[in-house]
Parts: sequence; C-alpha cells; structure tokens
Amino acid sequence: MSGLDTVPEVPPDHRWNADSLILGIETSCDETAAALVLGGHDVVSSVVSSQIEIHADFGGVVPEIASRAHLEALNPVIARAIVEAGVDERRIDAIACTHGPGLIGALLVGVSAAKALALAWDRPYIGVNHMEAHLYSAFLEDPTLEFPLMVLLVSGGHTMLVEMRGHGDYRVVGQTIDDAAGEAFDKVARFLGLGYPGGPAIDRAALDGDPAAIRFPRALSDDPANLDFSFSGLKTAVVNYVRKHPDAGTADIAASFQAAVVDVLVAKARVAARQVGATGIVLGGGVAANSLLREELLGACAADGIRGFLPSREMCTDNAAMIAAAGWHRLRSDGPTALDAGAYPNLRLVG
Ligand code: KG4
Ligand code: ZN
Repeated sequence: MSGLDTVPEVPPDHRWNADSLILGIETSCDETAAALVLGGHDVVSSVVSSQIEIHADFGGVVPEIASRAHLEALNPVIARAIVEAGVDERRIDAIACTHGPGLIGALLVGVSAAKALALAWDRPYIGVNHMEAHLYSAFLEDPTLEFPLMVLLVSGGHTMLVEMRGHGDYRVVGQTIDDAAGEAFDKVARFLGLGYPGGPAIDRAALDGDPAAIRFPRALSDDPANLDFSFSGLKTAVVNYVRKHPDAGTADIAASFQAAVVDVLVAKARVAARQVGATGIVLGGGVAANSLLREELLGACAADGIRGFLPSREMCTDNAAMIAAAGWHRLRSDGPTALDAGAYPNLRLVG
C-alpha cells in the first residue's frame, strides 16, 4: 500500500510533489477519520472510526452526539494513522481537513484540530470540500484514469453527476431535486423496519427478493435529456404499496425499490457520459457500495465501450485518504488555506 519507505527524507522547502505526505482529517458527518497519503494517491495509512452504532438507536445521525463522538475519537484516530504509517510526525508536509459541506459542529471538531496541528507543527493547513474529495477516491486506486470522466456521486446527503474535465475542473450536470439516493435508502429501510443505516440493510434484504416483483416508478426517466434525479416519489410509492399490501414480502419490496433506484442512476449516468464523451464512469459516495449498482454500472459501461471504475467500498464511503488526496491537488493549484478560514456546512461543488 505504501511507497513511503522508497522515498528519501523530504527537505522542508520541498512540497506538493510526489514526495509530499499529507495528513487528511474527516469529521463532516458520522465517521471520524485520519489518513496519510503520499503524492496525492499513495495511501500510507487510513483509519476510520464509525459512529454508526452510536446513532443506530436514533435511526439517523444526531448532530450533537456526532460532534461529541468526534471530539473523543479524533486524537486517537490521528495518532493511530501516524503510528500505522510508521513515520515521525515531522515527516508530514501539510494537514488537509474537510471544511464543508457537513454538520457544523462535526466539521468544527476536525477543522479546529487541523489548524491546531498546522500551528504546532508549523505546516500548511488546507480546507477541503468533502464532495470534491469523493471525486478523488477513484484516483487513490487508479491514478491513471483519463479525463473527461463522468462521476456518479451518491451518498446520504448528495446525488450528483459530475463531469470531471481535469483536476479541479468540474461541472455538475445533474443532481437530486429532493432526497439523496442514500437518504431514500435510509428512509425506506426505516419504514420497512430494516434498521440503520438503510443502504446496506436493503442491499442485504434484496438478495432474497425478486427485483421484478413490484414495478415502482422510475422518476424522471421519461426525459433522457433531464439529468436531475428525484427519489421522494419513489419513497412515497413504497409507503403506499405497503399500506395497500400489508402482507407483501419485505425482501421483494427491498429488491424492487433497489432496482428502481439503480435503474435511474445507471440510465442517467450513461446518458451523461455519452453527452460529454467521457472515457468512463466512476462511482463515489456511500451508495457506491451497493452491489446491484456496482454490477449494473459495469454492465452498462461494457455495453457502451467505456471504462467503469468502482473504487473499493472503503474508499467509496467517508474516509480521510480522499481528503488528503484532494488536499494535495488543491495545494498544488491554490496553495494553503488561511488559518482564519472557517467551516462551511453548505459548501457547494464548484469547478
Ligand atoms: O458517503 P457516505 O458514507 O456518507 C455521506 O452521506 O456523506 O454515505 C452514506 C450513505 C447512507 O445513506 C447509506 O445508507 C448509504 O450510503 N449506503 C448504501 C450502501 N452502503 C451505504 N446504500 C445502498 N447500498 C449500500 N450497500
Ligand atoms: Zn461522504
């Protein structure tokens, strides 16, 4: 995983190249994570501490509890990332941290820690857009991906199609007009009593179900030029169906719901890729862990003669390696972030 032992000691003025070692920190939602990444893509260590169990009883992330849990977890997580990398902290060239979008209290825990380390170690701080970082998770596993790429970013908070024309050069070509795909998974799972987080629960339940059992609506799919998504109608359709058919099997409902979401995601990603002449489609975000989505996307890409790239599940879900990777690219293009910059809960993805 690491090429660290093969590179020479870095002189203090030698920065933002293949030898630059970036500490990434992520605390925007319910994962406390730290990672060390060399040269923007070589993952030296990556530690993720999930709060999923803490929030499970509440059926979703409770912001105040998330902030407190980040406070407790962050220092040990950073320490472990450094120990696992087997480096001295003086070897770290810069500290990158998610500064938005996300929960404000959660973001502030990471941003404050990152700035404190930047001051204590006399190293630059770089604030990273969490969504931009998700775009980079694919590059952690294949730095040779060729532009233009179409990235399908599907998480608990976002659903977007982003044309990536180069590093830092993006165009959002479609996004959800209501619920995010992950949010739809979470809400439907909760309604079906499958627990939290809903995506993996539906993924599992669907294995025993028939995806053709119920024909749920494929929102907006009638107009191929419209690359926006909508999932709230589908969620309502599931609720109405279950009320009308109380004896319907949960596995069939889960499989049919999942098929409806995946059909729309893949169909629109395919049209978007065609429109911009993309060399391939890349998945990102937590929902990218979905088995059916991974399978269908690869099939669609093969049929269209383009590349389908699926980062590993660890890199698709929130992690700090992607933050360090995006931070490395931002350092090269824009330089460090001022220490008086804040945290931005509603930060948008702008190319
Ligand atoms: O990117 P992520 O880890 O966190 C943010 O939202 O930023 O994504 C979490 C979302 C949750 O909604 C979760 O239910 C969904 O990703 N998810 C899945 C699967 N694994 C996680 N959705 C569908 N199938 C899965 N296997
Ligand atoms: Zn995320």
